[in-house]
Amino acid sequence: MADTDSISDSKEFYLNTPQVADPFPLKGCQNLDWGMKNRLAHIFSPKSGRTVMLAVDHGYFMGPTSGLERIDVTINPLLAYADTLMCTRGILRSITPPTFNKGVVLRASGGPSILKELSAEQVAVSMEDAIRLNVAAVAVQVFIGGEFESRSVHNMTQLVDAGNRFGVPVLGVTAVGKQLTRDAQYMRLATRICAELGATYVKTYFVDQGFETVTASCPVPIVIAGGKKMPEADALNMAFQAIDQGAAGVDMGRNIFQSEAPIAMIQAVRKVVHENMSPKEAFDYYRSLKESAPSR
Ligand code: 5RP
Repeated sequence: MADTDSISDSKEFYLNTPQVADPFPLKGCQNLDWGMKNRLAHIFSPKSGRTVMLAVDHGYFMGPTSGLERIDVTINPLLAYADTLMCTRGILRSITPPTFNKGVVLRASGGPSILKELSAEQVAVSMEDAIRLNVAAVAVQVFIGGEFESRSVHNMTQLVDAGNRFGVPVLGVTAVGKQLTRDAQYMRLATRICAELGATYVKTYFVDQGFETVTASCPVPIVIAGGKKMPEADALNMAFQAIDQGAAGVDMGRNIFQSEAPIAMIQAVRKVVHENMSPKEAFDYYRSLKESAPSR
């Protein structure tokens, strides 16, 4: 039997101390349930409230994109530097180490290849399988202005209903068709529709003019896609401008994995996103890392 003689019966109830409750660091997410917030905390750093998502899901409609021919060789070494991996369930099960213990954002829409009308996508993953894979969120493409606009919006709302049932956030990905103008007016429209119809957070493209109006009018966090490969200095500058104008992070693919030095690049992106490092300093940092380990 335990010796009870030494047990102190003095107690401290901190009667004059209000319950300690840190505010949740993401805008528009205060009223979400615990499980949903916990999943978001596997995507967004609780410290900075921001994220560097590494997007490698391009193969779901583009096949083996340059830089993603051998994900085991080129992407797995980058995982240590990403807050979150965005990929398909095929890549997750076949190649991603299950020891990866950060958030996974699962591509949950698909169907047409790059050879067809992309806006005809459908839901491509059940919420049951997403939960089996222990993902932090699911991602769905929304084609505002596309030929199958309503279908893609319905894909998202279906996933939102299923996600709300089980506490799984939904990332609405605003897709830009060839015929649509990439300007702030379009981005405001597309991101706001995603948020109004229930997306937990939204991915869009950075625009040079008026991006701050896109983040201001979207009630939930916005992350930006990287888009086509550009010089590293320009990509770092874009990331800085986006963060400075209210984005909560990046969901960057080609500008990292097609970089001359992907490990250096993702570390420089992290400096911009999490530490507000200036684009010039971040580029110098990228170059110094690249020079110290030239093969990466
Ligand atoms: C494909 C996607 C990609 O994940 C997205 O485009 C991000 O990659 P990149 O930075 O290469 O544009 O959503 O539809």
